[in-house]
Order: sequence, then structure tokens, then C-alpha cells
Amino acid sequence: MRLPSLPKPPVPKRFQDKPARPGDADKIHPLEQVKEAGISAADWVDERTALSGGLRWVMFRKVPKGTNWFYTLGSATLFAFLSQAVTGVVLAMYYTPSPTQAYESARHITNDVFLGEFVRGMHKWGSSVMVILIFLHMGRTFFFGAYKYPRELNWIIGVVLVILTFVMSLTGYLLPFDQRSYWATIVAANINGTGPLVGPYLSDFLRGGADFGATTLSRFYAIHMLLVPGLIAALIGAHLYLVAKLGTTAPPWLRADVDEKLREEQV
Ligand code: HEM
Repeated sequence: MRLPSLPKPPVPKRFQDKPARPGDADKIHPLEQVKEAGISAADWVDERTALSGGLRWVMFRKVPKGTNWFYTLGSATLFAFLSQAVTGVVLAMYYTPSPTQAYESARHITNDVFLGEFVRGMHKWGSSVMVILIFLHMGRTFFFGAYKYPRELNWIIGVVLVILTFVMSLTGYLLPFDQRSYWATIVAANINGTGPLVGPYLSDFLRGGADFGATTLSRFYAIHMLLVPGLIAALIGAHLYLVAKLGTTAPPWLRADVDEKLREEQV
């Protein structure tokens, strides 16, 4: 039995269509005008750069059946990195990488700067979040077999990204220059020194000489805020290029659809 349809709710007067008046057809609604302006601006840029082709290539990709929440871990890691970059830039505006002023400038950020404690907290906790997310993303790609042909190179780039993320954690830990960060970094540099062959050279490089001194802090700062973030950003670019080019792997529990026609041809 078909139920009688409910009466439509009354439309408020200001939303009702107004009877057309002569000349109305030439008038364009302000929202339409804004849309038009946006489209012409985008067209202007596109005509000169042909960027829309690349954008379409990145955005309109085939996604395998069964794609689920686990596939968001890569983007979550990317978001954590971007958050670290933004909060890091804000911190760099107030931080001084000198052995005599580093501790005081960090204290100043926490106690005096507007929202300083919040931004410093975001950067500190964000670093742990990024490490956790990168591991979860790595686990997802491993257990879904995404490291296999043809994505081996993307896995290798990922391994370098994980190492660089650790370098960020190590170099960032020294920057507050309090007792804990100072002694923990000495321990870390000494452990590096025990590595085979390259170990002693690596720890000399990290310390900026045979001893832990004033150059160590500025070296860690340069590595932390210039060298490694630049490398990470470039490698993320290559990583995402390969994701867009190769597409993502289907979940391992999905079996490929059997193409009956193809099967008949093979028999
Ligand atoms: C800064 C760190 C990283 C970022 C921002 C990042 C970002 C992404 C994004 C957005 C995707 C596509 C969506 C997804 O599958 O989640 C992806 C895919 C992938 N990532 Fe990463 N990733 C990072 C680190 C790593 C690491 C450490 C590994 C492994 C060692 C890795 C291996 C892969 C692989 C193999 C794929 C392809 C997945 C598939 O085909 O299903 N990534 N990554």
C-alpha cells in the first residue's frame, strides 16, 4: 500500500521565487558573480601554466574496492609533518640557538610569548604523534603487501623518510638545552660512535668536533630546521608522485573479479 505523501513545509517568503520582471534575465546573482570571478581567475592561471592537467592527474585517480580507514594513515602522517613545519616556524621566530641563550629563549617561549606554551606543546607532542603515525602507516603498507612490485621504490623512499623522522627527533631533543636534553644527546652521540666503521665519523660530525661544544647546538639546529625538513619535504613529493602514478594497493582480503570472458578464451 502506498502511504499518502506528507504536505510540503511552507517556504518562507524571502526564499520563494519572485515573479520575473522585465530585465531580470540580464541580472546575475552576486554568488554567481563570485563563482564566475573564481573561474576566470583559475582559467587565467591555467592558460599560462597548464596546471589543471597535473591537478586532474593527481585528484582523479582510480581507487581500488575495499579502500578503508587504514589508507588514511599516510595522509595523517603528512598532516603531522605539516603541523610540525608550521609550529616549528613559529618557534624559530623566538628561539636562539646559542649555548648561553637557548634555554632562556625556550623558557621565554613557554612563559612569556602569547600562546607560546601551546605552540611548543603542539610541536613536542606532535613529534611523538608523527613517529606513531609513520609506524602505523608503515605497518599498513607492509601488511597489505604494498611494498611489492611495482611499489618497491616507494617503500625504499618510505624507509629513508622513517630514518629522517628519527633524525628530526634526535636533533630536536637537544634544542631546549636543559639538563635532560643535554645529557641525553651526549649519550645518543656516544652510542652513534660505537657503530661499525662510520660510527666514530658520524658522532664527530654530530658533535661538530671531538667534544660536545657550542658548535654542536648550532649544528643540530641547522640539521633540525633546514637540512632534514627540506629532505623530508622533497621525499614526500616523490612518495606522493609514485602513489598517484601507481595507485594504491587493494586490501589483501579482496580477490580480483574473475573476467568470465577472458577465462572462456583461455580454456
Ligand atoms: C613522512 C612520512 C610519510 C608520508 C607523509 C607518507 C604519505 C603517504 C600517502 C599519503 C600515501 C597514500 C595513502 C596511503 O596509502 O596511506 C602513502 C602510500 C605509501 N607509503 Fe607512505 N608516507 C610516509 C612514510 C612512509 C614509510 C615510512 C613507508 C614504508 C617504509 C611508506 C610506504 C608507502 C607505500 C609502500 C605506499 C603505497 C601504498 C599502497 O600502494 O597501498 N610511507 N604514503
